[in-house]
Amino acid sequence: MPLSPNAADRHETELLRDRIATVLARSRARTAVLTDCLDEAELVAQHSRLMSPLVWDLAHIGNQEELWLVRDVGGREPVRADIDQLYDAFKHARADRPTLPLLDPAQARGYVGTVRDKVLDVLDASPLTGRPLVADGFAFGMIAQHEQQHDETMLATHQLRTGPAVLTATTPPPGGPTADEIVVPAGEFVMGTDTDPWALDNERPAHPVHVPGFAIEATPVTNARYQQFIADGGYDRPELWSERGWAHRVEAGLVAPQFWERDSGNQWWRRVFGVMTPVRPQQPVVHVCWFEAEAFARWAGKRLPTEAEWEKAARFDPATGTSRRYPWGDTTPDERHANLGQRHLEPAEVGAYPAGASPAGVHQLIGDVWEWTASGFDPYPGFRAFPYREYSEVFFGGDYRVLRGGSFGTDEVACRGTFRNWDHPIRRQIFAGFRLARDLRADEH
Ligand SMILES: [Fe+2]
Repeated sequence: MPLSPNAADRHETELLRDRIATVLARSRARTAVLTDCLDEAELVAQHSRLMSPLVWDLAHIGNQEELWLVRDVGGREPVRADIDQLYDAFKHARADRPTLPLLDPAQARGYVGTVRDKVLDVLDASPLTGRPLVADGFAFGMIAQHEQQHDETMLATHQLRTGPAVLTATTPPPGGPTADEIVVPAGEFVMGTDTDPWALDNERPAHPVHVPGFAIEATPVTNARYQQFIADGGYDRPELWSERGWAHRVEAGLVAPQFWERDSGNQWWRRVFGVMTPVRPQQPVVHVCWFEAEAFARWAGKRLPTEAEWEKAARFDPATGTSRRYPWGDTTPDERHANLGQRHLEPAEVGAYPAGASPAGVHQLIGDVWEWTASGFDPYPGFRAFPYREYSEVFFGGDYRVLRGGSFGTDEVACRGTFRNWDHPIRRQIFAGFRLARDLRADEH
């Protein structure tokens, strides 16, 4: 017998409650993996001035969870109102965080555990309907994404850390055949979303965009191709770089992707979470900044895709004219679709995920490496800040470039075809690579 409408709604609500509990538990398990493997001295140390001490990330995760879920959604008394200020990312630059009177690792673990117990109580009691913060469990989804974003940031701290390896993971699946380039004909598509319940404010609203015809490469740029750029003097030819890019290349002394070293036999090696490993030719290049991507593109006679081109390649289904959640459709990613979730601690070779390709044959848009786009970080038409201006709005128009698609370090809850990430064009510690695009020739229209 079919469920009555009320019973069907109740059933949907319970499924949502289960999903929230699952994603919160998965985030916390990941946080534990990244913090339980290091001793107290390493947790409080600053491994790079670009990063917080790991123990700051840990308590900050708990503090955001307390602010939004315990106090706001739950309407409960504060757990530790006295530490809010210490863990406010806008009050203290990363470089200054080691000097703050932070909770020590044991206190931080106790704090995040206490907060989580209260949150599970709040979750049990919440109708998951009503005001926008609570409807569809938005605040819970936002906090799960927040923790996973910090888990990716903490993974980047692990990569910057020196010392013996502490993380392990299985090898990603081997690569396979792909096309070189895919032509996407001119036309309108729907960019952004109104319907994805946990999409963040900067992904909204859905809006039509006319995209002129373009060609996009079927895979991210590989290490093999990047080595050709280096061998062809890519780092020594100012004409390949923008003025700003060249100034940065000289000042920072860039000669190869971060974490690469060349041995006396001219073989490139890469330090991956404390292990020196030969650069694998068919893996996407990672740890390059936007300026390096820009110079490579000029060398190759192409350019970076705009954000709209990237999203159209990732979401537009020409058969139905609609935009999907992912290149392969709307089903949640698993290990067949994409290299996500720190399942592997390196990008997979190109062509490793045929089941994750778009209908037109564009591979690995989701997972493996974040992809730099040509676009700055700006609001969509009709943007409204939600639930707070500091999530996105204060960054619009700044010196940022948008990155798309997530990396091997990104969890699926924080990755979809509409998801937008942004960073400064000089940043290399993030798990970022790129793919190339170009305008169509007259005979291709
Ligand atoms: Fe944060």
